[in-house]
Amino acid sequence: MELGLKRKRALVTGASTGLGAATAMALATEGCELYINSRNEHKLRTAADKILDKTGIKPTLCVGDVSRAADIQRLDTEIDHVDILVTNTGGPPPGLFTDLPGEAWQEAGDLLLISAINLTRMVIDGMIRRKWGRLIYLTSVAVLQPIDDLILSNTYRAGVTGFCKTVSNTYAKYGITANCVCPGYTATERLAEIAASRAEKAGVPVEKIIEQFASAAPVGRIGKPEELAALITFLASDKAAFITGTSIPVDGGVRRSLI
Ligand SMILES: NC(=O)c1ccc[n+]([C@@H]2O[C@H](COP(=O)([O-])OP(=O)(O)OC[C@H]3O[C@@H](n4cnc5c(N)ncnc54)[C@H](OP(=O)(O)O)[C@@H]3O)[C@@H](O)[C@H]2O)c1
Repeated sequence: MELGLKRKRALVTGASTGLGAATAMALATEGCELYINSRNEHKLRTAADKILDKTGIKPTLCVGDVSRAADIQRLDTEIDHVDILVTNTGGPPPGLFTDLPGEAWQEAGDLLLISAINLTRMVIDGMIRRKWGRLIYLTSVAVLQPIDDLILSNTYRAGVTGFCKTVSNTYAKYGITANCVCPGYTATERLAEIAASRAEKAGVPVEKIIEQFASAAPVGRIGKPEELAALITFLASDKAAFITGTSIPVDGGVRRSLI
């Protein structure tokens, strides 16, 4: 399928590893010009080298912490224009409500919700002028079905979902779509951290927790980052112009509700 993404400019944040790196690779494979962001320049350069080797596309590195408004303001001066925005960061710490200090709430809000708002503010005027844009917010299946020991994620990603829906209504008339993608258990460093935390609390081997993740999904396995990236790439394309204001799980069927 020709997706029409050649020479579209995409910004993917949190793109040095995991789901963000897989997304950047998939968009480059379709010929997008890429800006990639994360905090650690060395990790980001390694990801960029892999993309260049595999696709011939040389991503522009945008080093910065998107939970800080000042870093996003600086990125704005380094980036020409963005047709496709994919917002992503690392996850907040796991924990139950009583496990988490007050500061963790401020930090998680800046990381998950305020970053998505500030990044949208950075790109929206240009998308309106060009009458084309794709806003894609990476959230989690925790939005569709909260996960007890991820209260920070459950709370702020719900905020991203409300923000996305509102933006999708307001700017659809300019050819801009806005959607959330909701990964289930997917094999990345983040998942390994969550598994380790649960294994320690439960006093069981980490492999047992990974098995539980896999068996929670009817497909009986953990997802691959490329599987989420494939959906994002489709949503970024012209073919997905009629899909907006929604949240789409990529979870192997973990969520059991009808819609
Ligand atoms: N994997 C799963 O099973 C799963 C399921 C549901 C939801 N999620 C969510 O999806 C997101 C991505 O997950 P992942 O598994 O790909 O995580 P990951 O492997 O830990 O990757 C996170 C990426 O974000 C970057 N990053 C972290 N904080 C950042 C910040 N403040 N500003 C800019 N970049 C930042 C990291 O690079 P630097 O260290 O260089 O900054 C890295 O490139 C997370 O929010 C996670 O909670 C994951």
